[in-house]
Amino acid sequence: MKKVIAVTKGDGIGPEVINEGLKVLRIISDYTDFEFEFKEAPAGGMIYKKFGNNLPKKSFDIIKNADALLFGAVGLPDLPPGTAESAVLKIRQGLDLYVNLRPIKLYDPLKNRCPLKEEFIGKGIDITFIRENTEGLYANKGAVLNENKAENIMVYTRKGCERVIKYAFDYAKKRNHTKVTSVDKANLLKPSQLWRKIFHEIGKNYPSLEKEDIYIDAFCQWLIRAPYKFQTVVTGNMFGDIISDEGAFLIGSLGMASSGNIHPGKVSMYEPIHGSAPDIAGKNIANPIGTILSVKLMMQESFNSMEIALELENAIEKALHEARTVDIQEKHLKTVNTQEMGDLITAKLKELLKK
Ligand code: NAD
Ligand code: IPM
Ligand code: MN
Repeated sequence: MKKVIAVTKGDGIGPEVINEGLKVLRIISDYTDFEFEFKEAPAGGMIYKKFGNNLPKKSFDIIKNADALLFGAVGLPDLPPGTAESAVLKIRQGLDLYVNLRPIKLYDPLKNRCPLKEEFIGKGIDITFIRENTEGLYANKGAVLNENKAENIMVYTRKGCERVIKYAFDYAKKRNHTKVTSVDKANLLKPSQLWRKIFHEIGKNYPSLEKEDIYIDAFCQWLIRAPYKFQTVVTGNMFGDIISDEGAFLIGSLGMASSGNIHPGKVSMYEPIHGSAPDIAGKNIANPIGTILSVKLMMQESFNSMEIALELENAIEKALHEARTVDIQEKHLKTVNTQEMGDLITAKLKELLKK
C-alpha cells in the first residue's frame, strides 16, 4: 500500500522529534506492506522568516494532496506570539479537521512518573479527549479594536457541535466505553448551552452509553482527583486545549502526549500536543514519544491498521522499561537522548514486526 506522507518539521524541537517519527515510519515500510513517500511541507516560524509566510502555498498544496500529515511543532520566541502558530489553525481549518483526538494513557512503566499518589491513580488513567477543532474561540481571527480593546468571539454552530459529538459517541461505542463525558461552561456561556443541548439530543441515539456533563472548572479538579472515572471526554476547542496539557502531565510528561487532527476519510494531521519547547531546543533531549504515538494514531485512524498501531504501542512500552529521556527519567534506568530513544523504539518495533 503506497501512501504519501507530508512532513512539517517546524521549529524548536519540532525537527528533532519528527526525525524519530520518520525512523519509525521507515521501519514500518521496511517490514510491512506499507510503502511511504515523504514530502516536506515547511511551515511555522523559520519559513516565515525566509518568505514572510508561515504556510507557503506550496506547502499547503503538498499537505492537501497527501494521504496524511506528520507535523512537529511551530513557534519561535523571537517572533510576536501567533506569527508562527497561526499556521496550525490554517491547516486545521483549511482541511476542516474538526476532530482533535487526544489520548491520555498512563503506561504501566510510567506509573512512578505520574504526579498523583496511588489512591488518586486508582485503577489507572486511560482517557480519550475529543476536542472540537475548528470553532469556538478559534473560529475567527478576532481583532485588536483599539489600544484598549481586543476581542475573540466564541462561535458554535449546530453543525460544528453535532459532528464532533457524534464522532465522540461513535468512538466510545467502538472502544466499548460505558460513558461519554461532556465538558462545557453552560452555566454561563451561550455556545456551551447550545453544545450541551446537542450533546443530549445526540446522546439519545446511544442508549447504552451513560452521559455525563461537567463544567470545565470542576472538570479540571476531577481530572486530578479521580482521572480513572473518565473514558471518552468531548469538549470545545479552548477547553480541550487546556485540559490536554493537564492530562499530558498526568501520564508523565507533555512529551508523551499525541494527537490526531482528523476529518474522517480525508487527509488528517498527526502531531504531538506539545509546542516547539525553546527551553530545550537543539539539545537532543526532547522526548520523541508524543510524536511516535502520533504515528501510531496515523496508522490506526488514517491507514486503518490497528495491528501495526498496537505493535508500535507495544514497542514503546518495552522501550520505557529499559531507558528514558530526561523528562521521564528514573534512577534505576538508563537516560537516553532523543535519537537514542527513537533507535530503541525502532529496534523493538523491528523485532515485533519480524514475527
Ligand atoms: P511547550 O509545549 O513547547 O513547552 C512546555 C514545557 O514542556 C517546556 O518546559 C518544554 O521543555 C516541555 N516539553 C515540551 N515538549 C517536550 C518534549 N517533547 N520532551 C520534553 N519536554 C517537553 O509550550 P510553550 O513553552 O508554552 O510554547 C513554546 C512555543 O510552542 C510557543 O511558540 C507556542 O505557541 C508553541 N506551541 C506550538 C504548538 C504546535 O505547534 N502545535 C503547540 C503548543 C505550543
Ligand atoms: C495545540 C496548540 C495550538 C492550539 C496552538 C499552537 C495554536 O496549543 O495544538 O494544543 O491552541 O490548539
Ligand atoms: Mn495546546
